[in-house]
Amino acid sequence: MTRRVVCPGSFDPVTVGHLDIIRRAAALFDEVVVAILHNPSKSGTFTIEQRIDFIEGASADLANVRVAAFGGQLIVDVCRKLEATAILKGLRSESDYAYEVPMALMNRQLSGIETLFIQGDAASGHISSSLVKEISGLGGEISGMVPDPVRDALYARRAGA
Ligand code: PNS
Repeated sequence: MTRRVVCPGSFDPVTVGHLDIIRRAAALFDEVVVAILHNPSKSGTFTIEQRIDFIEGASADLANVRVAAFGGQLIVDVCRKLEATAILKGLRSESDYAYEVPMALMNRQLSGIETLFIQGDAASGHISSSLVKEISGLGGEISGMVPDPVRDALYARRAGA
């Protein structure tokens, strides 16, 4: 039986923190599906195609990782479709825990699927997509916080603004 885990998120855009969790997941499971869950009525910063490209590019060396996008769907329905064993997420802080636990319990109530939490590298624990975007937009340096193509795309947006 293939042990398939789903790493869900908005990934708008992916950060080195996300990639650290994806790498750890790839070492623990047979297959990792990075699931970009998006609200079709909201545009976000990057298109779904860009978000997919960024993650695929940064995880190209991980043979058991694939990326897929799902709009307007419950994560539990995505997990059913993918025949996933579990949902896996990284926890950075107590506030992440407070945000994640109700969702984990709700998802288990809805479907029986378990959510697993792992600690990411402490060095990237403070990095989030929203902070990186804010810093970049205000002229700050974001090298090392996101993959280089994401950094370049954010800088290009800044230049065009
Ligand atoms: O990267 P994010 O924004 O923290 O990811 C949140 C995400 C996409 C994982 C969460 O909002 C989610 O699971 N959305 C899918 C819709 C859903 O199932 N909502 C009910 C959760 S109990």
